[in-house]
Amino acid sequence: MTRLTILEYPDPRLRTVAKPVQVVDAALRRLIDDMLETMYDAPGVGLAATQVDVHLRLLVADVSEDKNEPLVFINPELIEQQEIEVSQEGCLSVPGVYEDVTRAQRVRVRAMDRFGKVFERDLTGLLAVCVQHEIDHLDGKLFVDYLSDLKRTRIRKKLEKERRQKREAPASSRAPSI
Ligand code: NI
Repeated sequence: MTRLTILEYPDPRLRTVAKPVQVVDAALRRLIDDMLETMYDAPGVGLAATQVDVHLRLLVADVSEDKNEPLVFINPELIEQQEIEVSQEGCLSVPGVYEDVTRAQRVRVRAMDRFGKVFERDLTGLLAVCVQHEIDHLDGKLFVDYLSDLKRTRIRKKLEKERRQKREAPASSRAPSI
């Protein structure tokens, strides 16, 4: 399995609208396994293909405590959304930023599994929020889009500054890579 590079805001590739998956084959399952490894390694609870610069409607998630319940949603569709509430979200493409977002806390989703079989599933709480957040990624949308322009600009500047500092830091001041 391969760890993939996660695109970070404001990378314009995160704005790409993903296309439906047409064929569920071994190559797609390899991508799914690479996305799961990338998500666990990050660490995160969800990852959309858009975030690894693959513009297909595919997302993975695992909100379990022991990180042993990987879920795959191919061509996911929300068919019901209920109990709209505010909860805090973060995103692997917007590192270190956590903000309140209003979303449904109960959803019903229809998708295909890793073998192309269609299923429907009711999701609640964090998993419901996660799947809505990842489907937004597939539509080229980020959770910071729900915030005010002022807040979003501040977040962009903060991330750009952090990236600049990381680039300029001399090798000796970086943590050792082992
Ligand atoms: Ni995200």
